[in-house]
Amino acid sequence: MNSDQIKKLLLVTVPIVVVALAAAVFFFTRNNAVTTLGPQGTIAANETRSAAWAAYYPVHWDSYQDNLANKEKPSHFDTKPYLKNIYAGFGFSAEYNEPRGHVFTIEDINAIDPARKKAGASCFTCKSTQVPEMMAKYGDQYYLMSFDEIKDQITEPIGCLDCHDPATMELRLTRPALIEALQHQGKDVSKLTNQELRSLVCAQCHVTYYFEPGSKKIAFPWDKGVKADQILDYYDEENFSEWVHPDAGTGLVKPRHAEYETFMNSTHQSAGLACADCHMPYTKVGNKKLSSHVWQSPLNNIENSCTTCHRNGTEWLVDRVKTIQGQVKQTQDLAGNAVVEAINELKLSRAAPQVDQAKLEEAMEMHRQAQWYLDFVVVTNGYGFHNPTETLNNLGTAIDYAHKSVKLAREARGA
Ligand code: HEC
Ligand code: HEC
Ligand code: HEC
Ligand code: HEC
Repeated sequence: MNSDQIKKLLLVTVPIVVVALAAAVFFFTRNNAVTTLGPQGTIAANETRSAAWAAYYPVHWDSYQDNLANKEKPSHFDTKPYLKNIYAGFGFSAEYNEPRGHVFTIEDINAIDPARKKAGASCFTCKSTQVPEMMAKYGDQYYLMSFDEIKDQITEPIGCLDCHDPATMELRLTRPALIEALQHQGKDVSKLTNQELRSLVCAQCHVTYYFEPGSKKIAFPWDKGVKADQILDYYDEENFSEWVHPDAGTGLVKPRHAEYETFMNSTHQSAGLACADCHMPYTKVGNKKLSSHVWQSPLNNIENSCTTCHRNGTEWLVDRVKTIQGQVKQTQDLAGNAVVEAINELKLSRAAPQVDQAKLEEAMEMHRQAQWYLDFVVVTNGYGFHNPTETLNNLGTAIDYAHKSVKLAREARGA
């Protein structure tokens, strides 16, 4: 080859190489595909150790590990002193903390106040990937085992196996109580859409539930619907109470973290959003894109969680969230104090020498209702953000029932 031929060759090849390189750079950094990386082998169908999934999904494993930074768990009692009073006689009155990262569930459950261990093995149901295995091993006996009988066998916190099929990585449900509740609603659980599953994987745990009397099996009280009034109707019809308040004498039921129920029919749910849209937004790590596996306050990640739809800027959004939550907290405090007043009046009436029994019982019924609507809001994480209007409506209802209870309790003893 002479120098002319080399020049010509370079003239042809250099542009081709440059274009090819640019295309390659564009292709590998384009970021519009979600990284799945795998499976490059097989994960055992019952692989409960999330660390064992790391080899196949390293980027997701790193994201999951970031939950370790989410350590804070302040006590609810610091900001809501009336809770000690309204929960008297129930385990929650001994200890009730805000939640923290999914990776801490084992540490937290093993450190819980002994007063809260009475429910037994069932407590672990929302805390570990090993629970479906325990249910398979012990059958319905699982629910009847004591806390201490099961605790040494459970070491893995919430993890990959709780939400994913290891063979396909598709989302799936692993908790029988949710599957049964959906079947009672007439849903075909084999035909759930991916968007439904992006909320329902969370609804395995972020819901209210109860222990069936006798079997202690976990069940969801959803047969009449998932809203506070429909759930209370369900309990009333079954004549179901979980404990008796020692001062008021009232039989009460306990709602628990009803995030899914509250979210249903909210503005965002009606607009087609799922839990994962705000709590697991698409996030870039280097040039890779993935669904964030850090389950936390979306306010820590507002650019990914909210500004994809809302263009008014992060400051506006934070302000809106804080305003909603501030109003809910203020109204919740009013309801809390009103329920405490009802409890105090009931206590006085029960101790009075002359009391109109029928009126006293009516006052207790009003207390049961007030406590339910108040507590439904208290235990639901997010301070009302998931459904502001419905939350305030529940609190208004609680205040009304509490005032009725106070009035009737006074009338019952002629005060
Ligand atoms: C609480 C439920 C939950 C847990 C636990 C969980 N994931 Fe996911 N994962 C999801 C959801 C929801 C998506 C989004 C799926 C979709 O939109 O189709 C997802 C998506 C994925 C994807 C698909 C790519 C992407 O980023 O969207 C991979 C891979 C994945 N997860 C791996 C893991 C691994 C590995 C673990 C354990 C370290 C894990 N996940 C734990 C709920 C979970
Ligand atoms: C297997 C049960 C389970 C599943 C499934 C589950 N969670 Fe959780 N989640 C928990 C528990 C339990 C806690 C509290 C952990 C603690 O404080 O030790 C929690 C805590 C949280 C927190 C609070 C973290 C904080 O900073 O306070 C968020 C947010 C959250 N989960 C969102 C979700 C979302 C979104 C999904 C579905 C994609 C989901 N969770 C699926 C059980 C579950
Ligand atoms: C439109 C966005 C959005 C959707 C959808 C959403 N959330 Fe939230 N969530 C929030 C915001 C905002 C907060 C309040 C965070 C704060 O106070 O810092 C929150 C708070 C929470 C918390 C408490 C976290 C903490 O740090 O205290 C949990 C748990 C939670 N959500 C679970 C869920 C579940 C389960 C679903 C689906 C049923 C869901 N969320 C749907 C935006 C959303
Ligand atoms: C997928 C799109 C989408 C995402 C993501 C989203 N929103 Fe929205 N949001 C909507 C739509 C749609 C509405 C209802 C119409 C409207 O008001 O613009 C709405 C309404 C609202 C409202 C007013 C209604 C109400 O319930 O008070 C607030 C506040 C809000 N969003 C905050 C947030 C915050 C905070 C986040 C992130 C944690 C978020 N949104 C994430 C779509 C979204």
